[in-house]
Order: sequence, then structure tokens, then C-alpha cells
Amino acid sequence: MTEATDKVTLTIDGQSITVPKGTNVLEAAKLLGNDISAFCYHPGLPIVAQCRQCLVSIEKNPKLQPSCQQVVGEGMVVHTTDPQSTLARKQQLEFTLVNHPIDCPICDKAGECTLQKLYFDHDNADSRVDTAKVHKAKVVDLGPTIVLDQERCILCSRCIRTCDVVAGQHQLEFANRGDHEILTTAPGEQLDNPYSLNTVDVCPVGALTAKDFRFTMRAWELEATPSVCNGCATGCNIEIHHKNERAWRLVPRLNAEVNQYWMCDEGRTTYHPLREERLASAIVDGLPASWDKAIQAAAKRLGVFLKDASQVGVVLSALCSNEDNYALAKLAKAWGAGHVYVAGKPPVPARADGKLRVADVNPNATGVKAICEALGLNPIATYELDRGVPANLRALVVLGDVVPGLDATKLKELEVISLAAHERGPVPHARVALPIAAWAETGATTTNHKGLVQRMHAAFAPPGAAIAGWDAVVRLAAATGQKLAWTHPRDVFKDMTQTVVAWKDLAWQRDVRPLALRFAGSRG
Ligand code: SF4
Ligand code: SF4
Ligand code: FES
Repeated sequence: MTEATDKVTLTIDGQSITVPKGTNVLEAAKLLGNDISAFCYHPGLPIVAQCRQCLVSIEKNPKLQPSCQQVVGEGMVVHTTDPQSTLARKQQLEFTLVNHPIDCPICDKAGECTLQKLYFDHDNADSRVDTAKVHKAKVVDLGPTIVLDQERCILCSRCIRTCDVVAGQHQLEFANRGDHEILTTAPGEQLDNPYSLNTVDVCPVGALTAKDFRFTMRAWELEATPSVCNGCATGCNIEIHHKNERAWRLVPRLNAEVNQYWMCDEGRTTYHPLREERLASAIVDGLPASWDKAIQAAAKRLGVFLKDASQVGVVLSALCSNEDNYALAKLAKAWGAGHVYVAGKPPVPARADGKLRVADVNPNATGVKAICEALGLNPIATYELDRGVPANLRALVVLGDVVPGLDATKLKELEVISLAAHERGPVPHARVALPIAAWAETGATTTNHKGLVQRMHAAFAPPGAAIAGWDAVVRLAAATGQKLAWTHPRDVFKDMTQTVVAWKDLAWQRDVRPLALRFAGSRG
């Protein structure tokens, strides 16, 4: 016996390994770099061992065992490359392929399909089927988000279990038997739960395709950049899949503390607005201008009021990063601005489901709060401006384009300087508008509703003349006689974490280069 009773030592293919009790053989083998073929097993789902693609030999056990279901035992001796288990997995793969339509050239999953990968890894042989394949329905509309190709389905049940476990709704089921067995919606159900698109991720083949993504881009043409969903305060970890300076889809990234393997459907659509109504150049009095001209114009207009800074207000944004907010909050402090507001979207109580979705649809309200507390600022929600603009408020520097409470009439009364990614909200009413990067275009951090500070990476460059929000603030500060000596988001982060006590031990994660998906393993 090993000394620690919560560990088990076994031998896999002649190599000894010690793993926590309860680990399955398949995961233990993975730790040794041996990726046993598998279809129905998913680490985030209950184990059903129904595809038999992961069979291995275990000494003293007369029959082959599914390694996904077999828990490790002390002294166990496992063989995954012996002739018996290798042949069993090869035959099982051939069986799975008997009626498969081999749609690879037109299949959305091609390039990230487990069946395709295993065929090349383990079989690579011509088909021995000389009779007509059993055909099943194609383009089956399962609901608002997903289309099913029944003959591509290999009946692994991952999607059924995903609906059961992630959404808590039994919306998918198998019907019929033998080679006429099909995946279908459960009686009286559509596949329409708020987490439905996770089934597309886990499907090991191209049976389930997302209406939003299908036929838009081949997987191997995309690059993946790790980031954090900006759809709500949960901050699910995601990958932005992008090409040609634009995002094509968002998929969840494993974070056991935040979202495990999942994200909600609404979050997946948050890449669409990245391209809408972008502010791509600076604007002064309604006309495009260079950065220099715009910054000088902003400084000149603010300068009149900064002589008595009680007339100046700033609006921070619960939709922008920690760095952008910290920079503007610090400038407000340096100016001695008389008014500090925080803007954000109103809560949506119906979203809160006790799973991932929460009522707060702002990604960074917690971060703004922490920054303001650390700097001794007491921001007021911009909703308060519904009651009227304070008599002595004359100029407003606004971060972001969502500012409830500030309608066009009120904005016209003020000298507004906007720092925004999109030309909407206060931006069309601003005297000077400065274009800044959106969340997917800049390296920065955001703080979820539990106070977890998470890193977003830039997937691609912002459009036109847009720059990082904190950088725009640095330029505005310099033009108004203040010095913010930062040249990289890491500098802002370092300053910020020295100011916000709860963040003092956080380290800046280095930038990562996008990973070409053609070099990544199969998903699902
Ligand atoms: S649709 Fe995909 S995930 Fe669902 S049972 Fe078929 S192969 Fe498995
Ligand atoms: S729960 Fe929130 S953070 Fe997570 S994917 Fe959905 S919108 Fe994004
Ligand atoms: S992965 Fe083990 S039986 Fe399917």
C-alpha cells in the first residue's frame, strides 16, 4: 500500500503511476500521455460506458473493461496497447463507422471531430461495408439554436446528459432500436434551454451544429484566444475563435471554480455586438479628427471647468475593464472631480437560475466598486441623473456607451467627452469622442461577482484608430497637466493591485499568442 490512503498506485503499460482514489483508468492513462480513444466519456458528465471505445485489458480480469468506468485499484496492472484491447477498439471504431455518412467535406465538425481523429489514429482502413448504409434524417430542427443530422449521430448520449446535468432539463432522448436508433427531442420538448449550445461542444461528431456558426467558417481556419465572457457578472472562461480580425464564435474554457466546462447560450452571442456601430476614429464636434486634435480639443474644453473641478464629473463603467476604470478613476481623483458616477445595465432578475446565469448583466460592477473604495471615491449610479443633473455639473467624461439616466436633453446641457468603443448612447452627443478597444481587443482584467479577478487577452486589434481605454485616459491626463506613467496594461495592473488591498497578491498573466485550431486536439 502507498503511504497516503487517499492515493492509489497502479501500473499502466509498464509505467507506475500514483493517482487520487476514485480516478478512472482513462484519466490515469492520460496523465501518462496515453489518450485512450473514447466517445461517450466526458469529465463533466456522469459516466455511462456505452460506446465501448475505451476498452482496455486489466490483469486478473477475464474480460476487457471500459477504462472510463473502471476506477483505479491498488496494484492494478492495465494494458492499453496489447493486441486484445487494440483490436477491440479498432473493431468498435469500425462498427461505429458502419452507417456513418462520412460527410467530412461538408461537415461543420471536420477538423475538430473525435470520430475523424480516431479513424486516422487507430483505423485508417477502407470500409468493408458493401451494402447500402442505413440513412436517417438530415437538417432536423431541434429548436431555436441547433440543427441535428441524425445519421451523423453515434448515439453516445453526451448531449442528453448535458441537458440533464447542465440545464437540469431532460429535452433529448433516444428512440427506436438497433441501427434505426435515433436521437430526438423528448416527448413534448424542444431543445431550447438556456445552456443548449453546450451540447454542440460535447458532441464528438458533427451531428449537432449551432445555427449561429454552421457554414460560416472551417474550424481549422480559426485561431483561439483565451478570454472571459462579458455577458454577465459570472465571468465564464471562454475561448474567442477568430479570423480576419473578427470573432466567429465563443466556446467555454475549463475553469473548475467558475464555469467548469460550460457557458450559457446568451453569452455565446456576445461577440456579435463587437462589430456593431464601431467608433473607429476620434470625433470633434461631429467631424472625424486625429487623436492629437481630439485630445487637444478635449483638454481645451475640460480646461475651462477644471479650474473649479467641482463642475467636472466622470462616469465609470461596470461594462469596462478594471484597467480602463482604474485609469479614469485615478484621473478623476487627480483632477479632484466633483462628481463620480458609475454606469451599467439594469439587473435582469429572471436570468438568475442558480447555475451560471446571474441577474447582474454587467461583467465588472464588482471591480469598479473595489477600485472606487480603494481610491476613496463614492460613485453614484447614473440612474440618479433621472432626477436631474446637479446644478454645478458642467462637464462629463464618460467611459463606455451604456449610460442609463443620461438622455439626449441632459447630455446637451453638458460638455461631454466620450471614451467609447461604439457610436451609441452618449457618444453622438459628445463634443469629443475618443475611440477605444472593446473587450475582445485589449489585454486587461475583469472582476466577477464573487470578486475573482480574471485576465482577458486581445484576440485581434481594435478597428481604425481605436486604442485601449486606459491608454486614452493616459493621453487625456497628459493634455490636462496630469501624469499617469503607464505604457502597458501591466503597468496599470501593477499600480491598481498596489492600491486595491484585496488584489495585492495578484500577478499579471503574460500575454498569450492565439493558438491555431489546426494544431489543437479534437473538441467534443
Ligand atoms: S448528437 Fe452527438 S452528442 Fe448527441 S448522442 Fe449523437 S453523437 Fe452523441
Ligand atoms: S453565465 Fe454570464 S458570463 Fe457565463 S456565459 Fe452566460 S452571460 Fe457569459
Ligand atoms: S468512453 Fe468509455 S465506454 Fe464510451
